[in-house]
Amino acid sequence: MVYLIFSNSCSKEVNREPPGPKPLPILGNLLQMNLKRPYISLYEIYNMFPWTQCWLKNWKLMMKNREQNLRQIKELVDNLEETLNPEETRGLVDSFLIRKKNAEESEDKDSLFHEKNLITTVSNLFAAGTDTTSTTLRWCLLLMAKYPQVQERVQEEIDRILSGRQAVAEDRKNLPYTDAVIHETQRLANIIPMSLPHTTSCDVEFQGFFIRKGTCVFPLLTSVLWDECEWETPQAFNPAHFLDESGRFKKNDAFMPFSAGRRVCLGESLARMELFLFFTSLLQHFRFTPPAGVSEDQLDLTPSVGFTLNPSPHKLCAVSRTSDIYS
Ligand code: HEM
Repeated sequence: MVYLIFSNSCSKEVNREPPGPKPLPILGNLLQMNLKRPYISLYEIYNMFPWTQCWLKNWKLMMKNREQNLRQIKELVDNLEETLNPEETRGLVDSFLIRKKNAEESEDKDSLFHEKNLITTVSNLFAAGTDTTSTTLRWCLLLMAKYPQVQERVQEEIDRILSGRQAVAEDRKNLPYTDAVIHETQRLANIIPMSLPHTTSCDVEFQGFFIRKGTCVFPLLTSVLWDECEWETPQAFNPAHFLDESGRFKKNDAFMPFSAGRRVCLGESLARMELFLFFTSLLQHFRFTPPAGVSEDQLDLTPSVGFTLNPSPHKLCAVSRTSDIYS
């Protein structure tokens, strides 16, 4: 997983800072990852067959970027360690540092609370938590531009329920259509089709097959997200998949973009909240359309294959709606 994540950071644009306030070095670096290079799908192959490493392009550059990312995280962690106040923990890193300090004081050599684990944990959280949510949001906007009648219904609901105020997490239950659109986007976009590789911790009998302990298995999320037995139109964008006859939000157990079981995505609730707040706020303030000269039909939903499935490169217009909301 770590190799895949760092493989994404091999953009030549890695040193260019985004506009706006200066971000934390690590955030700036990760936000500039270019995930659309066609060769990146090779890394999925590498994840299955590590001996293919010698055929990977830009291996040295990848390793250099990986080192750079780890150095930046170390700086971040060192800074938090210098200003640590055990009476007032500021978050995960502080809590980890306190456990690390306790382990060092009691000379616990087997403790897992050491610097290397802390840095890896932070880098995994940054990597797993940024590209996934932003990619899903980009799919949301592309689908809204492609299906303007769906976008209008979302905006009608947002305007009616929020009356121009900013959305908060609790509003989701009162915005069933908006919620259904976000769920349907995640289902159709299927951004992590093969989830992450796992290893069986014991011998397993599964649907008549014997899987030996220690076998690498890939749970195919596509098989449920696009299951013909579960969804009326599995290949088409259809928010009604998540609505009952009265227009109320309807769950479906086959909705598994975050995977399932003990190793289900650790950031699921954070991601769901982020998606709701960002999507609602964007649609409240802007109408998304194809650029001049491009029709909705021409917006292509073919994904670009990388570590995640991204929308192919495209341009959209964000037309301000502010005057509509407040008029
Ligand atoms: C739309 C957004 C997201 C999607 C679709 C998504 C999806 C996934 C999937 C499919 C997995 C693999 C689960 C498995 O191994 O079976 C995963 C793992 C993980 N995700 Fe997410 N994720 C998202 C957002 C986030 C966010 C915001 C964070 C944290 C800030 C996060 C942190 C993690 C971590 C740490 C793991 C590894 C968990 C483990 O191995 O125990 N994810 N995610």
